[in-house]
Amino acid sequence: MTGSLVDDLRAVVGQQHVLTDADLRATYETDWLRQWHGTTPCVVRPGSAAEVADVLRTCAAAGVAVVPQGGNTGLVGGSVPRAGAVLLSMQRFTSLGEVDPLAMQVTAGAGVTIEALQQHARAAGLDFAVDWGARATATVGGAVNTNAGGSRVVRFGTMRAQVLGLQAVLADGSVITQLDGLPKETAGSHLPSLLVGSEGTLAVVTAARMRLVPWYRETAAAVIACDSLVHAVGLLPMLRQLPSLDAVELLMPHALAVACRHLGVTPPLDPSSAGAFVLVDCAAHSDPSDELAQLLQQERGVIATDARRDLLFHIRDHVTIAIGALGVPLKLDVAVPVQHLDRLVRRTTAALPSGAQLVVFGHLAEGNLHVNVLGAGDAAAEVRDTVLAAAVELGGTVSAEHGIGVAKTDWLQRMKGPAAFGALLAIKRALDPQGLLNPGVLFPVE
Ligand code: MLT
Ligand code: ZN
Repeated sequence: MTGSLVDDLRAVVGQQHVLTDADLRATYETDWLRQWHGTTPCVVRPGSAAEVADVLRTCAAAGVAVVPQGGNTGLVGGSVPRAGAVLLSMQRFTSLGEVDPLAMQVTAGAGVTIEALQQHARAAGLDFAVDWGARATATVGGAVNTNAGGSRVVRFGTMRAQVLGLQAVLADGSVITQLDGLPKETAGSHLPSLLVGSEGTLAVVTAARMRLVPWYRETAAAVIACDSLVHAVGLLPMLRQLPSLDAVELLMPHALAVACRHLGVTPPLDPSSAGAFVLVDCAAHSDPSDELAQLLQQERGVIATDARRDLLFHIRDHVTIAIGALGVPLKLDVAVPVQHLDRLVRRTTAALPSGAQLVVFGHLAEGNLHVNVLGAGDAAAEVRDTVLAAAVELGGTVSAEHGIGVAKTDWLQRMKGPAAFGALLAIKRALDPQGLLNPGVLFPVE
């Protein structure tokens, strides 16, 4: 990169918002779990959509690629800089609009954290529906771009179901602003929906109009000890009858043990006493613990409210960090129809080299497993391909909520098939003809 591009970018966003110093760049160049590394000649921190547009035009004129980044909590390398690209940090987009209680909506900047959005909604008596462990750091922009899911999808759906509109800057610097939040509109295809899950390859999202949901203050959780994963899956029809059902999470015994050990807490149930644990959360306007207890009277487990309920989710939220403290795992995020979960785990286990540690947890209701393998060594690539192939063969997906990033581009075409993949590629080429928006993500570099 020439010094003149850095100077031009400084002229757009201001001297203090172009970071070239290696120490300042470092946190942007490695993801939070130290899985992905890259280098960037500079980190650019625009403060408005107009500045993003100018940054994109400036970089396009120089033929330099741009990698957008939010909270850097991604798990597939999609927001770590590569091959001399400028890192476009969206951290300054922290504006939060007034909550509209009539429409139950709010507009949030791309750099607003999920936790800040939740707190903002709750201050108005409402809530934001998408939630997961990295809430304090993960941002609205990143969640939109990966179509994030988390623990409450069983009740409210993924990010796609929350996004009513977006503001986004296209590769040519034009700005699309669709933030009216109309709940009904059939005036052509819905561009915001196209951008959800596009991982920064089609546009840079600067703000989102989000659906809000009721804030259910009364909660009760249960951990159920199941004989097997098949038993755990078999609970779903019964659990789905609960009107207050808010989350159905899966912790295989080793995941429960690893998280509790990391936190230094006593497990709610002995991890070795079951083949799988299901963590159920209920939330309502009145205490749901009785209906939960009544439903689960035939099952072995504990019901928890208040601080004990919060501890259960504290444990659940820390599984990823606990695994990360043991090493850098091979990390996969697959989903299959729930009736095939057991087959998927069996095939995964059979593919492991001796000495490898398998830590599996996830979102049971969506058949979404987070497969973590520590110590796979030279067998890592083979294990990865076995698990991804099994997921596809069983009618599932190679990515349920983390995205494709740079980690799984070789699998997108294989999974989608030539027609659907061709359509996605045609959209990419039409919107980003120079291929400068997050190249190497979703699609292999052309
Ligand atoms: C989770 O459910 O905790 C996240 O998706 C993180 C992970 O898979 O490691
Ligand atoms: Zn997850």
